[in-house]
Amino acid sequence: MKKGKVAVLLSGRGSNMEAILRDSRQPDANYSVGLVISDREDALGLKKAAAGNIPAFCLPPKRFRSKDEREREIGCLLEQHGIELVCLAGYMRLIGPELLQKFSGRIMNIHPSLLPACPGLHAQQQALGLGLKISGCTVHFVDSGLDSGPIIVQQAVRVRVDDSEDSLKRRILRQEHRLYPRAIRLFFAGRLQIRGRRVIIADK
Ligand code: GRF
Repeated sequence: MKKGKVAVLLSGRGSNMEAILRDSRQPDANYSVGLVISDREDALGLKKAAAGNIPAFCLPPKRFRSKDEREREIGCLLEQHGIELVCLAGYMRLIGPELLQKFSGRIMNIHPSLLPACPGLHAQQQALGLGLKISGCTVHFVDSGLDSGPIIVQQAVRVRVDDSEDSLKRRILRQEHRLYPRAIRLFFAGRLQIRGRRVIIADK
């Protein structure tokens, strides 16, 4: 089986990257992780990637004259490593127009809420503040907005009466680790079709 090639972009801990990497090493996985890029030198995910023998690069914004220049460099790395799908996993930056166009329909993100509820930072705190009974996580294609692109898959997580931000984060994160690999496998199985705002998941 020819395997698809994924790059993970991150800014921090990298637990989703680890979950993706773990899944990619299952015998039936239809993809591999070929590249990890961080915008922060202190990102734990960067060390984890290097420890997992994945080519890992740090491109801090201060090293570049502009966002465009930095993203052109990211585009070059993606090309050099034969990347077909870019997975944002705790990557704290919006993607600019050039890179979006270059990888049109091939950039995903994971967010810890049932979008369009609770976009942006502190999604779990937002869910508690709104008194939601159900939250969860979403994998979506990336567009120019904040957590606003077409939704691919979602997983609901019940909010408990005694939940703190931390306990809710933990339970949602556990589901994120299952959901992201599922979306990636669907992508490389050729089962995702974007029709306007909707993502159709084709039957096998
Ligand atoms: C996750 O909750 C993800 O949904 C959000 O940022 C967090 C990243 O966690 N976008 P990790 O770096 O993957 O552990």
